[in-house]
Order: sequence, then structure tokens, then C-alpha cells
Amino acid sequence: MIKTLIGSVRQYKARAILTPLIMVGESAMEILIPWVMTYLIGVIENAGESGLTSADFAMIARYGGIMFLMACVSLTCGVLGGRFASQASAGFAANLREDMYERIQTYSFANIDRFSASSLITRMTTDVTNVQTAFQMCIRILVRAPILFLFASIMSFVIAPQIAWIFLIGAVILAVVVALLMQKVQPNFRQMFKKYDKLNSVAQENLTGIRVVKAYVLENEEIEKYRQATQAVYDYSVRAEKILVVVTPLAQAVIYATTLVLLAVGGVQIIRNGLQVSDLTGLLSYCTQIFSGIMTVTMVLNFIAMSRPAMERIAEVLREESTIKNPADPVFEVTDGSVDFEGVSFSYSGREDNCVLHDIDLHIRSGETIGVIGGTGSSKSTLVSLIPRLYDVTEGRVKVGGRDVREYDLESLRNAVAMVLQKNVLFSGSIAENLRWGKEDATQEELENAARLACADEFIRQLPGQYDYDLGQGGVNVSGGQKQRLCIARALLKNPKVLILDDSTSAVDMKTDAKIRSALREHAPEVTKIIIAQRVASVQDADRILVLDGGRVTAFGGHEQLLRESEIYRTIYETQNGGNCNGAAE
Ligand SMILES: Nc1ncnc2c1ncn2[C@@H]1O[C@H](COP(=O)(O)OP(=O)(O)OP(=O)(O)O)[C@@H](O)[C@H]1O
Ligand SMILES: [Mg+2]
Repeated sequence: MIKTLIGSVRQYKARAILTPLIMVGESAMEILIPWVMTYLIGVIENAGESGLTSADFAMIARYGGIMFLMACVSLTCGVLGGRFASQASAGFAANLREDMYERIQTYSFANIDRFSASSLITRMTTDVTNVQTAFQMCIRILVRAPILFLFASIMSFVIAPQIAWIFLIGAVILAVVVALLMQKVQPNFRQMFKKYDKLNSVAQENLTGIRVVKAYVLENEEIEKYRQATQAVYDYSVRAEKILVVVTPLAQAVIYATTLVLLAVGGVQIIRNGLQVSDLTGLLSYCTQIFSGIMTVTMVLNFIAMSRPAMERIAEVLREESTIKNPADPVFEVTDGSVDFEGVSFSYSGREDNCVLHDIDLHIRSGETIGVIGGTGSSKSTLVSLIPRLYDVTEGRVKVGGRDVREYDLESLRNAVAMVLQKNVLFSGSIAENLRWGKEDATQEELENAARLACADEFIRQLPGQYDYDLGQGGVNVSGGQKQRLCIARALLKNPKVLILDDSTSAVDMKTDAKIRSALREHAPEVTKIIIAQRVASVQDADRILVLDGGRVTAFGGHEQLLRESEIYRTIYETQNGGNCNGAAE
């Protein structure tokens, strides 16, 4: 996991390595300054009754100067280390986000099904921020604090071996106390992060579905839902903080107790065994450094442990392999628009016991218009999603232009098979920009042609700015039917060999729907058209109609033939035409 994440440090590697080195420089100065100070106090102490001589003054000035220089070096190292650490960690976070985003773009529909959108957003925001802080702490503190601890301990034993063991006992007690408290805090923080996830998912769901919320007057329920989510975060963070507030006073109690013992024992040693006062003061300053080192290390370790789940969640995104990959030796040319299903079964989970498509055998000729009809959940969308390889079959194979779709270069296949998804979206930007998703370098004339075929040109012309009309995010400022027509135009711009319309005219009035179909028939006769519809009227003039029921093909043929042979088709037709099918069948 660490290896996966560290890969994203990249250009910030030098700074990430330099930071701990510079911090070691700062620590060295912090260790040496009390040592020089001890020496200086020793000079003053030893001057005795006679007072300081001019040589002493010169010495004090020299050592004072050295101390000043050391303080300057320490300060510079601190500032530099801090700057490098924040640059490295912020850069690492930016790289992580970019890498995750790039990875997510390679995901297939099946990969996206595995992670929810809100979880991906939390992973890219909150989780990355946590990892960024942990990383910064790691490079700044995790190397510096143990070094400080080690050197300070050595120095204490060098200057006052008789009493240095006292603070060692204090240090062990402090480490145990802080570690125990941290262990109690951990589960609360872990829960708190989980609740953050929930908080984000509630907010995300509400904000993306805000129109539905308003339409159903569910604002208060949503506010309550959000309140509960924030309350849960609050509860766990308060529980954690309750324990954390004890840490500092307790640690201070241990520190002061140790200092007291040191002073008491040290005082006796000064009187009886001639321990120098300067040694005792030196020891006391090392003692403070050691204790603060222990506290920061425990805190940092704790934070790192806490952000472990965040690291795992990020690594999961980065490691997720797309279930759909380009073949090793791909075919770039789709020769024609024929589509064949050979013994196809499909299940979203990949397990054969919950297949939603069973044993499909279909042969569609290039240029044919095929209607697909069936109840909701009969797997119409699933069936067509296999053609541009949005999902891979579980069994059997799907062919386009006589070749298995898995042999094609994905981009070439998806350019040849244009699909207007049932749940389609437009993006922020102008109409022209949105249409150009179909063909990047399309000329204005091409845009207008496609729009005309999709019966979108007429309403675009009424809009202020026409093709430059700015669509709100997701196309909020056009009607449902207008949006569908723009989506069809966008697909047509691809100049596809196979065009799939998944319920793409459901919000378009019957007359315009018929107009679109006749325009397609007339102007794109060579394109294979697969039209999924709820209305029989939308498919009855197709060359052949496929009737799906429970993931199986129950009938496939012309309108008249189906009225005679397929009970399901006849029932749908009768329901939609007031129970009279005789006239149409004749
Ligand atoms: N992403 C998915 N993950 C798991 N199961 C899914 C997924 N999408 C659809 N299904 C399941 O597959 C079955 C067929 O769904 P599908 O969307 O193909 O039906 P449909 O005929 O297009 O329905 P509708 O007319 O409502 O659009 C349903 O039982 C559905 O629950
Ligand atoms: Mg569907």
C-alpha cells in the first residue's frame, strides 16, 4: 500500500528526502545549544568569589557568539525544513489526486459500479488531505524526534551520569501513559472518519438530487438526515477530544514530577558529591527536549495510524484494474455495422447464478433498423451496453462488423458504435462544445446537420446565442426532450456505423419522435440503428423488433409478424392502443 502511494511523490522526492536531513541539522543545533550553555554557566559558576576575569568575559562573548550562530542555523533549518515539508506534502497530495483522477478515467462501468461516486469524492478530498498531513508529519517529525531523543539522552549521560537515569524512568512512564491514552482515542477517530464518509455521501446525494428533494418537499427530512450525520461526526470527535485533553496535563504532571525528583536528587548531589549546577541545568533542558520528543512522536504515530484507512482507500482506487482493457494487438477498423450476439449470457457480478441476460443469439445486418421493446428491468439497456463494450459478456461473444468486440481498439469501437445512454448527461459549456464531444473538430455545418437530423436545430435557433448558448451544469436549462435531442445529435456527430438509442426519445413528443426516425432512415441509411423504446409507435416501423422478457429474447421479427406470434408484444401494443390491434394487424 505504502509503495503504491509513495509512487506519487515523483518530482517532490528531493524535497521529501531533504526535509528530514535539514531537520536533523535543526536537532543537532538544539542539542548543542544547551551543551554550550552548560559550559558557559560552568564558567560563571567556577569564577567563584573573585568574580569574572576579562578572559572569562572574552570566553563568554565567544561562546555567546557561537550560540547565536547555532540559533541562526537552527532557525534557518527550521524554516527551510518547514517550507520543503509543506511543498513536498502539498505536491504529493496534488499528484495523488491527479493519479486517482487519471485512474478513475480508465475505469469501466463495472469498476465504477464497485465504488460509489460519493466515496470516490471523499477519497479524493478528505482522505488525501489526511494522508497529506500524515506525510508532512512523517518527514518533518518522525526522523527529527527520535534523533533528538537519542542525542539528548546521550548528552544527559555525558554531563550528569549520576542522575540521568531519573529522567529515563520518567520518560518510560510518560511514553506508556501517552501510548495508553492514544490507544483509547484511536477507535473514536476511526469511527469519526467513517462518519465523515457518510456525511459526504448524504451531502452529495442531496446536492445532485436537489430538484427531486424540492419536488417532494423533503427539505426538512434531508436537513434532519444531514444533522444526524454531522452529529455522529461531532459525537466521535468530542469523545476523542475528551481523552486528548487529558494527555497534556497528565504528561505535564509526569514532566514536573520528574523535574522535581531531578532537582531534589540533583540538589543533594551538588551538596554532597560536587555535581555542578550547570550540569543540572543542562540536564533539565535535555529532559524537556526528550519529553516533548516523546509526546510528538506518539501523537504523530497516532495520526499516522489514524490515517491508515485513508491510505488504504486511496491505494484501492489507484490499484483498481479496469475490467475492460485494450487487447494486445487491437483492430482499429470496424468494417460495417453488423451486430451479432452468439450464445451471450451476462451477469453484473460476473457470477453465473444471477444472470440478467440468458443465451442470446441475434444477427443484425448492417444498416438494419432494430426496435427493442420489453418491460422495465427486462435487460434492454444491459443488452445494448455489450455492443460498445461498456461491459464484457460473461459467456458467449458479441461481434460488430464480424469481429469479436474484444478484438477492437476500445476507442475505435466506441467511435463506431455511438450510444445515447438512457441516463444521459450534458456538461457545462455551450451547446456547440457539448456537441463536439461527438467530434472534436466538427465544423459549424456538421453541427447543424447533426442537430437537424436529431430535430434539435429548430429549438437551438430559438435560443439566445444559438449554438453558443451556455448550458448549465448537466444541461439544467434545457427541457428533458431538448436534452435528449442534443444527446442524439452529439452521437450522430461521431458518424457511427451503429447507433443505439436507449429510450432516447421518451421525453420527445410523438410527432418529433417520428420525424427523428424518418430523418435517420433517410439520411443515415447505412447506419445500423438499434432503438429501445417504451412506445410501440417508436419501433413499429423498424425492420425487425426484438421483444425481451426477463433477459431472454422471446420474439424477433416485423411488427405484423409479432402481432400474430408474440403475446407479450400484442399485449403491449393493445395496452398502448386502447385494446384494438386488429386494424393495425390487417
Ligand atoms: N449496474 C448494475 N449493477 C447491477 N445490476 C444492474 C445494474 N444495472 C442494471 N442491473 C440489473 O439488471 C437488470 C436489467 O436492467 P436493465 O437496466 O438492463 O433493464 P431495462 O430493460 O433497461 O429497464 P428499463 O426499461 O427500466 O430501462 C435489472 O434487474 C437491474 O436490476
Ligand atoms: Mg433501460
